[in-house]
Amino acid sequence: MILITGATGNYGKASIDSLLRKGVSSSNIVALVRDEEKAADLKSKGVEVRVGDYNNYEQLVNAFKGIDKLLLISGSDLVNRDQQHQNVIEAAKEAGVKHIVYTSFERKNETETSPIAFVAASHITTENLIKSSGMHYTILRNNLYMDLLPWFFGEKVMETGVFLPAGDTKAAFALRDDMAEATANIMMTEGHENKVYNFSNTENVSIGEMATSLSEIAGKEVTYTSPSTEVYIETLTKANVPADYVGMFAGFSTAINQGEFTVENSDLENILGRKPTSAKQFLSMVYASK
Ligand SMILES: NC(=O)c1ccc[n+]([C@@H]2O[C@H](COP(=O)([O-])OP(=O)(O)OC[C@H]3O[C@@H](n4cnc5c(N)ncnc54)[C@H](OP(=O)(O)O)[C@@H]3O)[C@@H](O)[C@H]2O)c1
Repeated sequence: MILITGATGNYGKASIDSLLRKGVSSSNIVALVRDEEKAADLKSKGVEVRVGDYNNYEQLVNAFKGIDKLLLISGSDLVNRDQQHQNVIEAAKEAGVKHIVYTSFERKNETETSPIAFVAASHITTENLIKSSGMHYTILRNNLYMDLLPWFFGEKVMETGVFLPAGDTKAAFALRDDMAEATANIMMTEGHENKVYNFSNTENVSIGEMATSLSEIAGKEVTYTSPSTEVYIETLTKANVPADYVGMFAGFSTAINQGEFTVENSDLENILGRKPTSAKQFLSMVYASK
């Protein structure tokens, strides 16, 4: 029996849909949700829904009973995530789960000097806890979601151009649905015990090259400006962008610039069994109709 956490989120839904599409019976899939009201579509697909909040250890132990393989989708609460993930891992162990699969994050700099230490630290802690849990594990080092690019670019990118402190360094962004499909392949097949996989695209692309793709789509030049991180923060702050967002955009863009997401050897294509969606294809899908 397979259990997927975060089943009402994007990655969880896409993983479950992939499992069903690939012929896994809905009677072999359990969805963990914290809000049952959001799970009507899962129930209509015949998937068993169990309620469990990452903050509630007892609830998790109950929800994980009878589960062999569990996909822990990393939580979105950056403040409490360490404890939440620890709860899930310990509850899985107590309930007798044999194999835990975890959506971790690509990174190179594991110190506090990383511009994305605010997300990387809890992934590192969680990976270590999982490895020392005694359960079989599979760690997925997910690269940046390509799906976030429009958010980074801003709504008026075709008029204003791209303004991000990412320099000319390339990154191997991958589509969330491609990573979720590859995750489903891991959940439904054997041979992934105690492995760490890198889920990144096969090609590395700079933000400048993406602006060139946007220019081709728009039929006019879409510029790319890469200011210093300081100037970027000052500009967005003056434009009244909330501080949390400024920190997030600045941190990720600076990390791209420092090569945190440049990857030469990815497992995504192999596990997916096809080429992952390219940045160019993604940008065409999103912007060609606008
Ligand atoms: N690689 C990247 O570029 C990247 C980018 C963004 C995020 N991420 C990470 O990847 C994860 C999955 O992405 P996504 O797009 O699927 O995010 P999402 O749509 O926000 O899904 C997160 C899921 O986690 C569930 N969740 C959050 N806190 C929980 C708790 N305390 N107890 C139980 N469930 C909880 C949410 O439940 P509700 O539906 O009830 O809210 C939701 O189902 C994110 O949570 C984040 O850790 C990675």
